[in-house]
Amino acid sequence: MNINITSAWNLLKSQIEACRKCDLCRTRNNIVIGDGPVEHCKCIIIGEAPGEEEDLSGKPFVGPAGKLLTKILMNGAGIDRKTLYITNAVKCRPPGNDNPTNKQLIACNDFLEAQLLLLQPSIIVTLGNVPTKWLLKTSTGISSLRGKWQKWRGLDLLPMFHPSYLLRQSGEAEKRVKQMTWDDVKALKAKLDELNKLN
Ligand code: URA
Ligand code: URA
Repeated sequence: MNINITSAWNLLKSQIEACRKCDLCRTRNNIVIGDGPVEHCKCIIIGEAPGEEEDLSGKPFVGPAGKLLTKILMNGAGIDRKTLYITNAVKCRPPGNDNPTNKQLIACNDFLEAQLLLLQPSIIVTLGNVPTKWLLKTSTGISSLRGKWQKWRGLDLLPMFHPSYLLRQSGEAEKRVKQMTWDDVKALKAKLDELNKLN
């Protein structure tokens, strides 16, 4: 990362940390900015919003959904999550883990856009309906979009199921959505391998 990007990144972090643009600033314990390499970032994973453990620790995807995400990446495709940048569409926890509202998504959008601009990833992965619909400005649901490569301002974007959704399934449904997610993470790995060959 060159010096200008480093200072721009640090400035962005301090702006996010001072944010009081929506009500979530009153109930949050920590803002969860994101985690991962900022230099030569190939891929960014975008979740919905921090949950309880994320709010307490200030780190993204460290609770049950995060543990499953880590396993999906590693056991499904040999991807170490530390090699990707992981963040959320909304940086503060909605109390009770409610879905973020449009107001909250709008308030946080400049931060997400700035992160994307500075990281310049080649691949975006959106987890579940919230970030997928938000970035793609679509009303089509995740069940139709998952596993199908999309474009976001010229970048490749892969929608996948949210790991919390997988955790809510059981029996045959669980098997089915896990298989789909396994397929999707392998498609992600293939795209990452393709990129690595080019560089
Ligand atoms: N769910 C999310 O969408 N993001 C997190 O960071 C944790 C759980
Ligand atoms: N709804 C979501 O928000 N995410 C999923 O992955 C599935 C259903």
